[in-house]
Amino acid sequence: MSRALIIGAGGVGSVVAHKCCQIPEVFSDICIASRTLSKCDKLKTEIIEMQKPKTNIETAQVNADNVEELVALINRYKPDIVINVALPYQDLPIMDACLATGADYLDTANYEPPDTAKFEYKWQWAYRDKFKKKGIMALLGCGFDPGVTNIFCAYAQKKYFDEIHYIDIIDANAGDHGYPFATNFNPEINIREVTAKGRYFENGDWKITEPLEINKVFDFPVIGPKKIYLLYHEELESLAQNIKGVKRIRFWMTFSDNYLTHLKVLQNVGMTSINPINYNGMEIVPLQFLKAVLPDPASLGPRTKGKTCIGCVIEGVKDGKNLKYYVYNICDHEECYKEVKSQAISYTTGVPAVIGAMLMLTKVWHRPGVYNVEEFDPEPFMEKLNIHGLPWHETFNPPAL
Ligand SMILES: NC(=O)c1ccc[n+]([C@@H]2O[C@H](COP(=O)([O-])OP(=O)(O)OC[C@H]3O[C@@H](n4cnc5c(N)ncnc54)[C@H](OP(=O)(O)O)[C@@H]3O)[C@@H](O)[C@H]2O)c1
Repeated sequence: MSRALIIGAGGVGSVVAHKCCQIPEVFSDICIASRTLSKCDKLKTEIIEMQKPKTNIETAQVNADNVEELVALINRYKPDIVINVALPYQDLPIMDACLATGADYLDTANYEPPDTAKFEYKWQWAYRDKFKKKGIMALLGCGFDPGVTNIFCAYAQKKYFDEIHYIDIIDANAGDHGYPFATNFNPEINIREVTAKGRYFENGDWKITEPLEINKVFDFPVIGPKKIYLLYHEELESLAQNIKGVKRIRFWMTFSDNYLTHLKVLQNVGMTSINPINYNGMEIVPLQFLKAVLPDPASLGPRTKGKTCIGCVIEGVKDGKNLKYYVYNICDHEECYKEVKSQAISYTTGVPAVIGAMLMLTKVWHRPGVYNVEEFDPEPFMEKLNIHGLPWHETFNPPAL
């Protein structure tokens, strides 16, 4: 019987709230809080209709950039855990509010300063001592990637390998929403990620590439061959530290030619810039304006067909012999929509956040301090993925990379 405060009522927040209500034995009470109260109230009505939950649902308005407002809400609602599924910009104020009030913390994306497209764990790892001293826990990056992909690596390490040498995290979305151009999660965060330089870890160093410079074709299970592009992703930073002896870690994502053509045009005309411009006496950030005119990711659910496939190809050594291993999940957009009125990108992020919160609340995973998910025993998490909608598959004969 626990109380969870969910901050953010967008694509991911909606899945988190629906899934918590499917597990009332852990989540007896939830509060959905976001900048726009009407979105929280609409979501509450939808959940009551669809899930007929035993969980009590409250809603609240909060500006999560404001620590005082957050502290007031936490002191009033008294949650055991704060699940942060707002935007990465809110990570630090929400962590500060947890420190001030003694609530545990979980998120799915690492802190990014609003004015620089650069995400790094250093800002959040700097809270380690403060969280330890306060006796509370923060679990960072508990979505799918980061999140489940880190857990896949920890599981491979625990179960199958003496040494892991190479990790390739490969993320495919073979879904089609029928729009000429839309992003599957927050467009601002998504476009900042894709237009940044590529980066991967090799022999103790970070190698930099031009944006989307390196690509290959990978023959995915079920969805078939797709072009994958190397880009930087935040789990590389923590895995490079936590998977001892790893020589190389790369992250790959599929993009359709259509998506890349639109993106190139938007970049060429300056619409993806985060530098403010003056328009009719008003300061606007082109990327934020673009977000306002693109389809809302939460609206893609009813239109998206097809599947995602996200997993890790891992190579290393067991008992002196080379071993290759591939562990992955396949998720169907339409099935997700039937269950929680959301497409698979939000679903694959929201379900792991709920599982992480559940493991923290039941003290299966609980240590004061600030942690990445691969620092805990992966097995309870792997079991819960199979139960709560994200079953995984494994093979020792992966497709060539
Ligand atoms: N690890 C993974 O696998 C993974 C994958 C996808 C996404 N993510 C992360 O998941 C998070 C949520 O993504 P999403 O697609 O759900 O985004 P979204 O649809 O844009 O929703 C964001 C929500 O946060 C709220 N919000 C924004 N700023 C706020 C503030 N200052 N105070 C209070 N609420 C605020 C928004 O409220 P309003 O609507 O009122 O503005 C909205 O409800 C992001 O951090 C994203 O990076 C992680």
